[in-house]
Amino acid sequence: MTLFDDGPFREPTDLGPGATHVPAWLALDEQRWIVGQFQKWTRGPVPLRAAKVRGHEMSVQTVCLGWHWRPYTYSREATDVNGQRVLPFPDWMIRLGRRALTDTGYPPEMIEHYSPDAALVNFYDDAARMGMHQDKDEQSLAPVVSLSIGDACTFRFGNSENRGQPYTDLRLNSGDLFVFGGPARLAFHGVTRIHPGTAPDACGLGKGRINITMRMTGLSDDRSAGIG
Ligand code: SIN
Ligand code: MN
Repeated sequence: MTLFDDGPFREPTDLGPGATHVPAWLALDEQRWIVGQFQKWTRGPVPLRAAKVRGHEMSVQTVCLGWHWRPYTYSREATDVNGQRVLPFPDWMIRLGRRALTDTGYPPEMIEHYSPDAALVNFYDDAARMGMHQDKDEQSLAPVVSLSIGDACTFRFGNSENRGQPYTDLRLNSGDLFVFGGPARLAFHGVTRIHPGTAPDACGLGKGRINITMRMTGLSDDRSAGIG
């Protein structure tokens, strides 16, 4: 028996204050199960669609849970797709989000109040990319929890001032967790490329990459009642 042969290396790596990468955080059976859920989500009521940013279609396709995102706002109905209300945010994903914060060192008293209510589920084909941007359509600055399944990508994680240097390019593989909160919550980030053919067979996704980011929107349905 060799040392460390009982599983992937799961040591978290900090990319500066507030940003943590945990390789191989999801087990393969968890990845497969999530891929099965993804296949259900894409069957409706709102299908995968490429959002338009300033008139240009993104190369990434997205389906949302809890709240529907379109640039630069959230709503319950996918008004820019088919007008249908999006699927509810699943309880298991709230639990998974809390587990992510526990494993990246957030204090229990913060995690108790962490209740993500929107997920953007992105699908990348071989050619898809995502330009550098900030996640700033939320009214809450609670951490963003990101999960990757399928082909690996090069993820660029930058600074909070602009799209340029300094940034770090890292590879996000199937099963990896990335959390950005606190001083890193408004950091620019993007996906510069997908690495086709790198998904492990057992992850359940034959081709492409799924990324789920869960967020707390800070929105309530009764917007006139004020937003916390
Ligand atoms: C995003 O920024 O919304 C997605 C990031 C990723 O695909 O890893
Ligand atoms: Mn983002």
